[in-house]
Parts: sequence; structure tokens; C-alpha cells
Amino acid sequence: MSLHELVGAIGAHQWRKNGVYVEALQDRIHPHYGTFFPTRSEYVDLVAAAPLPSDTLAFDVGTGTGVLAAVLARRGVKRVVATDNEPRAIACATENFRHLGVQDRAEAVLADMFPAGRAPLVVCNPPWIPATPHSSLDNAVYDPGSRMLFRFLTELSGHLEPGGEGWLVLSDLAEHLGLRTRDQLLGAIDSAGLNVLDRLDTRPTHPKASDRNDPLFAARAAEVTSLWRLAVR
Ligand SMILES: C[S@@+](CC[C@H](N)C(=O)[O-])C[C@H]1O[C@@H](n2cnc3c(N)ncnc32)[C@H](O)[C@@H]1O
Repeated sequence: MSLHELVGAIGAHQWRKNGVYVEALQDRIHPHYGTFFPTRSEYVDLVAAAPLPSDTLAFDVGTGTGVLAAVLARRGVKRVVATDNEPRAIACATENFRHLGVQDRAEAVLADMFPAGRAPLVVCNPPWIPATPHSSLDNAVYDPGSRMLFRFLTELSGHLEPGGEGWLVLSDLAEHLGLRTRDQLLGAIDSAGLNVLDRLDTRPTHPKASDRNDPLFAARAAEVTSLWRLAVR
């Protein structure tokens, strides 16, 4: 193992042991090695604030640590089915649900995108940057060709109950980096037969957004994170 990997593994162990405090949960999430974890809180806050269309059932597609599913369960959604295609994310989310005391309401299942059936609320926070992953660890951060994003939009109507909402959580960082345009996103929403009911915007508060020495400072300083409330047209 290289020194770089060793330092990474030790750091990951500390994150797993100590957890990350998530304001919206008033509790800690314990990320496992290789699982995307919520060091940025602004997108979690959007899911905590958006008006719930129903409290019966929700799907969380690509759950990672399970943080968004846990927020929904804590908000009173009676059943949350969370998916991920990474077994380590399923183990991690399951452990977090137990630790947060929502294991009776939230369940993590290994699946490619959506679980079976339909729900009145389907949430997805796909990776925000359409770039090529160089390791399996990168899969949670990079989405080559915006594949997961576009699949979520194209397949959403087949998994929503009538009158239901899809919540897409996405930052526009890729647009500021010239990796995707707003028109491409709007075009994909439109051709999937979806309407935008509303868009809740927030600006990142993480330290890199104000670090002028960061090579991506200009893009990060302009970044807006949004929760798109989508419905079938
Ligand atoms: C950006 S992370 C978001 C994690 C978590 N929902 C959050 O908000 O912190 C995206 C997640 O989607 C998962 N993912 C990627 N492709 C997937 C697919 N085809 N089906 C299910 N999950 C997928 C990744 O493993 C990763 O956990």
C-alpha cells in the first residue's frame, strides 16, 4: 500500500469512528471508507426544509451514508427505502439508520437506481461532476457523462405515484467548470416529461468556497446548490 493510501485509510477510520455532525439531524453520521459523506451541509439542509408532498413513503436513490433518508425519516416519513449500487454504502447506511434510531422506518437495499414500485417522493443527490472516476472510491463523486443524473430524470416518472414529487439535489459547479450547461439540464428535464414545480437554492458555506488559493475558487465562489422539485407533466 502506498503512503498516500495508508494516510487515506487512517483518516477514513477516524471519520468512521468520530462521525460527522449533521445539523439537520442534530446527530452524527458515521461514514464508512469510500462512502460519500456530508461534510457540506447545505444540500442536506435543503432536504430538511423542502415541503414534504407526503409522509407515507419515500425513495432515496444513491443513499451513500444514508443521510438524506435519515433526514426524511426524522421528518416523519413513515417508510424510506434507500438504494445504492455500492455494498459498502448499504452497510454504512444500515449502520447509520440503527445508530440514529430510524431503523424501523428506513431500510437500505442494494439496487441499480430505483427500488421496485412507486412512491410519492423520490429523492436523488447524484454526483455533481460529470468526469471519469479513476477508482471505485471516485464513483460517489464523479458521474461520467452525467449518466446517473440523466437516468434519474428519464426513469423518474416510472417510479412516482400520481401527484408525486422527485427531488433532485444538484449544484451548478459543473456548469461553472464548463462540464455541463443549464440548457442540457433543462432539456433533460423537459424530454423526460417533467415539470419544475419549484427550485430551492442555497450557497455553499464550506471553507473552500471562500479560499482564494483554491484553483477552483472562481467556480466555487459562484456555485449554487439547488433542490429541484419535479413532477410528471
Ligand atoms: C453524491 S453521492 C450521494 C450520497 C448521499 N445521498 C448524500 O447525499 O450524501 C451519490 C451516491 O450514488 C451512488 N450511485 C452511483 N450510481 C448509482 C446507481 N446506478 N444506483 C444506485 N446508486 C448509485 C453512489 O454509490 C453514491 O453513494
